[in-house]
Amino acid sequence: MQTVDHVRLSADENDLVILDQTQLPNRQVYLTLRSREELFKAIKELQIRGAPAIGIFAGFAMYVLARQYPREGFLERFREDAAYLNSSRPTAVNLSWALKRMTAAAERSGGDLAVLRRECQAILEEDIAMCTAISEHGLSLLREGDGVLTHCNAGPIATSKYGTAIGPILLAAERGIRLRAFCDETRPLLQGARLTSWELSRAGVDTTLICDNMAATVMSQGKVQFCFVGCDRVAMNGDAANKIGTYGVAILAKHFGIPFYVLGPTSTIDRHCPTGKDIPVELRAEEEIRSRWYAEPMAPAEVKCYNPSFDVTDHSLISGIITEKGICRPPYTESLKALFE
Ligand code: MRU
Repeated sequence: MQTVDHVRLSADENDLVILDQTQLPNRQVYLTLRSREELFKAIKELQIRGAPAIGIFAGFAMYVLARQYPREGFLERFREDAAYLNSSRPTAVNLSWALKRMTAAAERSGGDLAVLRRECQAILEEDIAMCTAISEHGLSLLREGDGVLTHCNAGPIATSKYGTAIGPILLAAERGIRLRAFCDETRPLLQGARLTSWELSRAGVDTTLICDNMAATVMSQGKVQFCFVGCDRVAMNGDAANKIGTYGVAILAKHFGIPFYVLGPTSTIDRHCPTGKDIPVELRAEEEIRSRWYAEPMAPAEVKCYNPSFDVTDHSLISGIITEKGICRPPYTESLKALFE
């Protein structure tokens, strides 16, 4: 698979270098980040995005910041910056998960930089292993010629390698199994158009981009055999938060009898979150709806907009949750709990 080096340390390890996802697919621009403000902004403004990638980024970000702290007051600074980064985006649980891991490593080792370096590397390597396993489990459901519809972007740049929701499609392409991918463009930030269709096309997958409001038509024409989507936080009853619009896709899939799967690593399952009602949903700027990505505003400047960035798909609409440990089936209160036993 053609990979993009989208999160890495600089050679001297003083900076974090990321591919700026807001500039894709037109330009591959790398940003060099060092200060807490730059690192916070990269998450907030979606220069780095996708739940697992945000977790990987947060691990390396804490290492880069830790290298700047004096010994005196090290742990206080570390905890303070972890809390600051954690406030950048609320929905993807991988952010707080990775920051907790790094904080525990800092506390355990008394701020040993070598230990912190190993911990952030481990978060990255574990994600590669998890995404590879998720892709294998997802691919086990698919047959040559199947059409798979996906929403938003849950590909390599949203994770470490392969991705989650599009991992099975990329793995199939590597093995010469031909599938057809349908990408929802994913308003308002167009992750499906800008990122998913770019990643799939580069991998040689038969890729068709559709507007979000075309999914029902494409499904009714028998072109879609499976819906595969990623997730930002899965509650213990199986309710799953993902990019706004996912819930609608799940409802359509139910109507047309199309299996709807959520794919994500166990780092995206929140053991402290009983149901979808407990998942914080990020509200983003109105400007993203009115004018972002357009040469001219596409709505009157004064019109009120409502811009929740995620929605929560009810567990009753989900055929299975595919993690690195296998495919969880309903009742999710049992199958998800079993993952952690
Ligand atoms: O706002 P984004 O672009 O970070 O939202 C991303 C998604 O909703 C993805 O589907 C999810 O994080 C899974 S990425 C493997």
